[in-house]
Amino acid sequence: MEITRRAVLSGAAAFAAGLQMPAQARSEGWAGVSGSVPVKLQVNGSTHEVVLDTRVTVLDALRDHLQLTGSKKGCDQGQCGACTVLIDGRRVLSCLTLAVAVQGKNILTIEGLAAPDGRLHPMQQAFIDQDGFQCGYCTPGQILSAVACVQEGHAKTDGEIREYMSGNLCRCAAYPKIVAAIKQAREQMSAA
Ligand code: FES
Ligand code: FES
Repeated sequence: MEITRRAVLSGAAAFAAGLQMPAQARSEGWAGVSGSVPVKLQVNGSTHEVVLDTRVTVLDALRDHLQLTGSKKGCDQGQCGACTVLIDGRRVLSCLTLAVAVQGKNILTIEGLAAPDGRLHPMQQAFIDQDGFQCGYCTPGQILSAVACVQEGHAKTDGEIREYMSGNLCRCAAYPKIVAAIKQAREQMSAA
């Protein structure tokens, strides 16, 4: 069979497009499926009904459709942790998770972490007290990941904190102060 230059180029383009699909979509064989569907998302205790392309990630749904821009897009490839949200209490990279796949689950973003009266969560307060950020771009993801880290019982030592927070990168290298903040919040969260 003759392989034409056009076939090679169009194949390469399709392959490149596939690489940009969320990993979950690729692994579930959804590549090539398109179309919008009604999606009901439970975010920070509120229900949102939106119509989304089946390939829209949780991160893009939050930022572009619900105007919840606290969750940040860093790499969009599952490598930096800036997009971390909690889903049913577990840390999730929202850039790699399809919105249609999390219907019926409770999504917590940084906008929903403070108490309804505006009182900051102990982890938010600790990041302020310990100066745990510089530019702040990674901070929403760091804080949500840190909350889960403490709740998982993975914040007993500095080394454990570093290990279990290693999925959240900070380009400003505020790591020592992030560890200090988690230790401060750990005491307050366990006393609560
Ligand atoms: Fe999701 Fe970097 S934006 S891991
Ligand atoms: Fe700037 Fe972490 S505070 S990237």
